[in-house]
This record gives sequence, structure tokens and C-alpha cells, in this order.
Amino acid sequence: MAKFTLPANSRVSKGKTYKAPADAKNVKVFQIYRWDPDANAPPRTDTYEINLDQCGPMVLDALIKIKNEIDSTLTFRRSCREGICGSCAMNIDGTNTLACLKPIEEIKGAVRIYPLPHMPVVKDLVPDLSLPYAQLQSIEPWLKTQTPPPPDGERRQSREERAKLDGLWECILCFCCSTACPSYWWNGDRYLGPALLLAAYRWIADSRDEATGERLDALEDPFKLYRCHTIMNCTETCPKGLNPAKAIAEIKKLLAERQM
Ligand code: SF4
Ligand code: SF4
Ligand code: FES
Repeated sequence: MAKFTLPANSRVSKGKTYKAPADAKNVKVFQIYRWDPDANAPPRTDTYEINLDQCGPMVLDALIKIKNEIDSTLTFRRSCREGICGSCAMNIDGTNTLACLKPIEEIKGAVRIYPLPHMPVVKDLVPDLSLPYAQLQSIEPWLKTQTPPPPDGERRQSREERAKLDGLWECILCFCCSTACPSYWWNGDRYLGPALLLAAYRWIADSRDEATGERLDALEDPFKLYRCHTIMNCTETCPKGLNPAKAIAEIKKLLAERQM
């Protein structure tokens, strides 16, 4: 899996240490990025010693234990606890992934947890996702049609047509991929990034959608699409096992075919 570090100019000092109870026998150390916009202080990493005998198996279980029992100021997003909502995406042990799907036992040594890389931080492990959400709106991620629906109201697909959406509809918009993509780091204001290009292709590939030409026109842009240089970090890091790089290649192929 691809590993990422914070930019070299990120000054993160060592913060507080919260010791485990003296009788704890199965202790794991968690080093967690902390930054409070109201504190007027640079970021730090706080260290929490957790007794794994009294903790669930996933990294998210440890974060919830810390917040509930040790330090209620720790801030992170989470909702479903089963890899569906995408909100617990963060950088764990050098890889962007979902805290609720990451077993603690897979991590050797201290568990290092940072927010998704190269995004502005709202607080602690919460990244500001305003940019990718605005970009999501720009790709118009809904079925677009001009023809009236059939009398029963259902726009049907064959099994083969439906199968073309597999590997696309499962995306939970966690943005682990986009925030692992160097092109998105440097050109995120103009490059759509792998998550949203996969989302765009999900509608291009849908046999019921009648706006394919318009969607391709909107993507035919040196920055929006062609900043992808096939580095593949996106596919390597996706916690749902999806392949955004392939979706991007399919869009490029369709655009090339249009010109032939
Ligand atoms: S394949 Fe494209 S989208 Fe994926 S990480 Fe590389 S440059 Fe980014
Ligand atoms: S493609 Fe994977 S990593 Fe990217 S947003 Fe979708 S689920 Fe997350
Ligand atoms: S809490 Fe929903 S994906 Fe992790």
C-alpha cells in the first residue's frame, strides 16, 4: 500500500501522553494528530496508551474509547462503523483508509493517525472537504434524461448493462483516493481527482443516462481530467477495493474514440 507523510513544512510537535492503567497487560500506543483552530498553537501529536483487552478490534473503536474515556476533546468524524458512510477516512499508519475497517492488530508498533493528507484541517482528524463536495456538485451525479419515461415509470437495463456499473456504484465518497493522488495535491483546485472522475464515469457508463456527450464535453479539459498521470495511488489505497484509475482510463478512451 502507498505510504504518505505530511508535507515537510508541517511542524508537528510532541504533545501530551496519556498513560494506560498500571495493571493493563495488553497496551498499544496511539499517536494522534491534534490541532485546535481556537488554541493559537501549532499542531502536535498526543500519545494515548490503550489497553486492548478493553477495546474493540478496529482503529475506530480505539478512537471512540479515547473520546469516551480518556480525552473528550479528540475530534473525528464517524457514523456507520461498517465502511458505508465514508466519514471516518483518515491516514492510519501511513495509508489513507477507513478507521472502522482497519484492524488494530494489522499495525506493527505505535498506531500513527493523521487527517487525510493535503486537505485543510478543520480540527484534529477532521479535514475540510468543501472543495471535493463542490466538485461533486459540478459533475451532476444524477440520472439525466430527455425522453419521457416508459408507462410503468421504470427505465430498465439488461443484466449486461447493469453489470457495467459494478465497481462504480460502490464508491462511498470517502476521498481516500483523491487525497492520496499527487496530481490532486498540487492541482486540486482544477483537477477533479480520482473519486469524482470515478463518480462521473458511473453516470457515463449508465445505459439509462442520456447526457453522455454533454458529460464527456464537460470533462474534456487539460486540468479536470488530464492531470491524471496514472500514478495509481488511488487504486492502491481505496478501502473498498475499487479502481478509480481504470475509470479514468475509460473516460480518456471514450474521448479518444470520439475524435476518431
Ligand atoms: S492514477 Fe491518476 S487519479 Fe490515480 S493517483 Fe494517479 S494521477 Fe491520481
Ligand atoms: S473510489 Fe474508493 S477511495 Fe475513492 S472515494 Fe470511492 S470508495 Fe473512497
Ligand atoms: S464510520 Fe462510516 S465508513 Fe467508517
